Amino acid sequence: MRKAEVMEKLPGGLYALKFFATDGSGSETLRHDITADMIAEKDPDVGNIVMASRNRQGTADDYFTVNRSDKLGQGQFAICYSCTNKSTEEVKAVKEIERSGYTGDKAREFDEVKMLLKVNHPQCLGVDEVFVTDDKVQILQQKMCGNNLMMYLMNRSSGWLSEKEAGSCFHKIVEGVAFIHGLGICHRDLKPENILLAKDGNDGGLLTVKIADFGFAKELHFEKLGDADASFNDPTATATAAGGLTATGLGTFGYVAPEIIARKSRYNGIYVDNWSLGVILWILCVGEAPFKLGGATKADKAKVLQGAYKIDTPKWKKLPHAAAICKKLLVVDPKKRQTSKACLAENWVQNDGEYKEGWAPASAPPASSPPRKPSSLPPNVKGPADKHKDSEAQRDEGRACCECAIA
Ligand SMILES: Nc1ncnc2c1ncn2[C@@H]1O[C@H](COP(=O)(O)OP(=O)(O)O)[C@@H](O)[C@H]1O
Ligand SMILES: [Mg+2]
Repeated sequence: MRKAEVMEKLPGGLYALKFFATDGSGSETLRHDITADMIAEKDPDVGNIVMASRNRQGTADDYFTVNRSDKLGQGQFAICYSCTNKSTEEVKAVKEIERSGYTGDKAREFDEVKMLLKVNHPQCLGVDEVFVTDDKVQILQQKMCGNNLMMYLMNRSSGWLSEKEAGSCFHKIVEGVAFIHGLGICHRDLKPENILLAKDGNDGGLLTVKIADFGFAKELHFEKLGDADASFNDPTATATAAGGLTATGLGTFGYVAPEIIARKSRYNGIYVDNWSLGVILWILCVGEAPFKLGGATKADKAKVLQGAYKIDTPKWKKLPHAAAICKKLLVVDPKKRQTSKACLAENWVQNDGEYKEGWAPASAPPASSPPRKPSSLPPNVKGPADKHKDSEAQRDEGRACCECAIA
């Protein structure tokens, strides 16, 4: 077996790989022309790649002691447990997804993993290693020991954050969202339950905030390829029909944008995320949501469709800058809605919940995206899903969320 390690993702979708000689000579060769397809399909030219300490054969249980009595959380599809590396004793989280629960197109089953491999950003919970067994997908991740944002808010006596805390937390969330949107990826299920914290904040701060659960995420394929910004920032850029506009009702009621409820035409998930950001900011600031969360009546749906929310309350009067941002995000027309990039440049956001007179966006630091080594799919997962774009709808249907019960 030839051994190789992915060193770096290069522009143009290529990867730099280091190959290790298997004859014991210790020699190494570098190649810069490897595509993701070659890796995923084990191209003979690439060989059977073994990622250094990543994507090993077997199951997570071979390498980690999975503590199934320590459930870190459970979503609609996955259960997450704490686990410990048997050789290094490093503590991690393993998210286990029962494969029998996936009813969509088989070719798209691993889209969540593929998405996780791309979201290398401090504000996104990526993936360290993946194991695929006959029954389960096991995703090894950093253990986020501070609850999800919804639980955290519920455990706070006030149920909401101070303006500074809300601004700082929201800044981190928007940074992560602007980063994925820059890659043309939409999350499509942004809500406090899918934002994880690494500290419980009892020491006064939400230290680490990461966007998690890319199970509904989707990559858009824009006509203006190569110009990532255009995908979400330029209203003239249109996603091609095959390029990622969605017809499926995904998401969670209360966070979903009016265009999903209207279901009149295919919608752009990036704009949908921007609406959800408005709902999240609202909850962070005042501890309640602008629209009913969960099980919705016709009247509740109508309120979302009209963008009918009440922001003239005494609580909101004390938060004029946050209120102004909510109003820009909770705009019914998706094309007039504020983008995540524009939101990130807001004075109040950049200054972590403080509006600084005289501050200009030009002085704002760019969204950071330090390089992290890309990983790849486990060796037993075949074929890149990009080859099956026409089956995207089937994959969506396979995971379509029902909590939002969009008719
Ligand atoms: N890496 C992690 N560290 C700690 N808890 C986690 C981690 N990943 C998930 N969880 C917990 O498990 C819950 C469900 O995970 P999630 O990825 O949202 O699954 P689903 O796709 O089923 O919604 C989260 O809300 C969180 O409480
Ligand atoms: Mg979830």
